[in-house]
Amino acid sequence: MASSMPRSLLSVSSLLCLFFALACAAPANLVLTKVDRKIDLSSQIVRSTTQIRVENKGSDPASELLLALNSAQAKSLSYLRVTTSEGKGKSKSQAIVLRVLPAEAQSPANVTFYSVQLPKSLNKGETVALDIYSAFTHLLTPYPVEIGQSDVQLVLFHDSAHFLSPYPVKVQATAMKVPSFRVESFTKVEPSKISDGEIRYGPYENVPALSYMPITAHFENNEPFAVVKELEREIEISHWGNIYITEKYHLTHAGARHKGGFSRFDYQSKPSASGASSFRHLLARLPPRAHSVYYRDEIGNISTSHLRSDLRKTELELEPRYPLFGGWQVTFTIGYGIPLQDFVFKAEDGRRFLNITFGSPFVNVVVDNLVVKVVLPEGSTEASATLPFAAEEALRTKYTYLDTVGRPVVELTKKNVVPEHNVHFQVHYRFSSVAMLAEPLLLVVGFFAFFGACIAYTHFDFSISKSSSSYQARQQREEVLDAVQRIQKVMNERAATSDKLEASLRDLARTGNVATCKAARKEADAKLKDTNKDLKAILDSLPASSRSTVLAKVDTLMQKEREKQEKLQQKHTVTVEAYEKKLSSKEIDSRVAPYQQKLTALKQEVAELFHLLDD
Ligand SMILES: *[C@@H]1O[C@H](CO)[C@@H](O)[C@H](O)[C@H]1NC(C)=O
Ligand SMILES: *[C@@H]1O[C@H](CO)[C@@H](O)[C@H](O)[C@H]1NC(C)=O
Ligand SMILES: *[C@@H]1O[C@H](CO)[C@@H](O)[C@H](O)[C@H]1NC(C)=O
Repeated sequence: MASSMPRSLLSVSSLLCLFFALACAAPANLVLTKVDRKIDLSSQIVRSTTQIRVENKGSDPASELLLALNSAQAKSLSYLRVTTSEGKGKSKSQAIVLRVLPAEAQSPANVTFYSVQLPKSLNKGETVALDIYSAFTHLLTPYPVEIGQSDVQLVLFHDSAHFLSPYPVKVQATAMKVPSFRVESFTKVEPSKISDGEIRYGPYENVPALSYMPITAHFENNEPFAVVKELEREIEISHWGNIYITEKYHLTHAGARHKGGFSRFDYQSKPSASGASSFRHLLARLPPRAHSVYYRDEIGNISTSHLRSDLRKTELELEPRYPLFGGWQVTFTIGYGIPLQDFVFKAEDGRRFLNITFGSPFVNVVVDNLVVKVVLPEGSTEASATLPFAAEEALRTKYTYLDTVGRPVVELTKKNVVPEHNVHFQVHYRFSSVAMLAEPLLLVVGFFAFFGACIAYTHFDFSISKSSSSYQARQQREEVLDAVQRIQKVMNERAATSDKLEASLRDLARTGNVATCKAARKEADAKLKDTNKDLKAILDSLPASSRSTVLAKVDTLMQKEREKQEKLQQKHTVTVEAYEKKLSSKEIDSRVAPYQQKLTALKQEVAELFHLLDD
């Protein structure tokens, strides 16, 4: 009895040991002998590079290493890459990327573990050096939360002075690079100091496992916090020689919210002291040989973009209709074509594959939710995607005109995307050239059917003579249709003229050059006069009998359209006068506002009437 007691105690404790061994995977015999951490806070993305040296002090070989992040960082983690340059052999230059899996080991409630698979088991007394690179989004919080147009943007960053690790750390140091010399405050944990735009913590010695020493840094960061809430990229492969890419953006400025009014005058005249964190231009790096590039928003094409290209890249610089301040947002679409032979190749197994970059071509943006749709040619089979990171994958079907069975679409969805994800991925598929002929064949058959119908029609139509009433009715209808089309064309010209006139006002706001603006006005007025004549001529050319039918529909449109043109001319006059009198931008805005309001309403009405004309 007396001897069985200790024995059962022994077995309980050994069970407990076993339990802990399973629960914690007993990594306690690993030690980090050196940790050197660099955190880059100079953009909206927090990037950390940590070099560690691991030693196995236990007797059992270790095949995995645990990494730890606190809950906030785990939630914001976008990209994690662990490499070692100590592979087998002596190819030190070639870094090996290690697999990182969700850890099975139990972690404390506010910590998340990741399991790094070591390239080979680490035996007793052996060491290995690893490089850990990670990127986090939405980890810098603006403080103050709201700023005015002339304020700079300050942000807070929370972390730990000690590298969070499930293992004890012998020697460690952390350096945080901030984007400007203006650091409001940072938590001091001796030894810590600031120099040359770097806040340094450590060196600290013999820090126990899971030690967490909260720190906060508060500093200036005027980087544009460009966040794409939603991005849909559609990559459509056509085996007739091109790939067409359409990208739909919902872009926001996720920095400190803008408060108070916005003065365009201050913005343009004192760009350095105004809207420091706002952004006005966006740069996209498109593939070389990109062509047919366009950029539009819900209103229409935007011409204020610049395209530069050389052999290695194509750069597209966009300017949205207004600069983006904190909390503001804009939606737009860009599209371009690229040559098929640069991106689709034949694989060894006879399948074809697309090899193209995954993320947004815009530099320094974060994409909260990215959907990439690869639309394969009709008749493709066995589609599958290969990515260097995890993403949700789904197979769908899309129908466009002339499609009979639909096009297979490989849809990839990924959240929290940073520029590091903008790497090549592949979509393999099987496609026979015969399937390429399906659509032309359909067309040919269609044409034959059409000609057949025409022949039949002319055969049956002999009975209709030129004097018959049905012939005349048709003739008249065609004339009316023709007139309506010509009127639409003139209306389009007039719309283009008013666009130009509005553009001249925008130029005026930018450059203050009154003379150019007046010249543009003169040109526009002349053009409007000409088109007035054209409209009259079209109406006069109609036979009297059909004039009333056209007039009924067109009259209201033409009236409203003239009203709109007049309002625009008035707005133009008032604006130019205001600039000549050198009024403040606030005063200009208030003078122009009533005209602008009416103009907007009229534009809407004209657009609706114009659509009615099509029926
Ligand atoms: C987790 O919570 C404990 C207890 O509140 C605290 O001591 C520790 O610092 C926290 N660790 C992290 C990483 O937040
Ligand atoms: C917009 O630009 C594209 C490409 O240049 C062109 O094909 C399209 O017709 C334009 N749309 C309008 C409404 O001007
Ligand atoms: C895809 O293209 C990139 C860049 O041209 C190249 O480095 C990579 O090897 C290609 N991948 C495949 C699987 O062909």
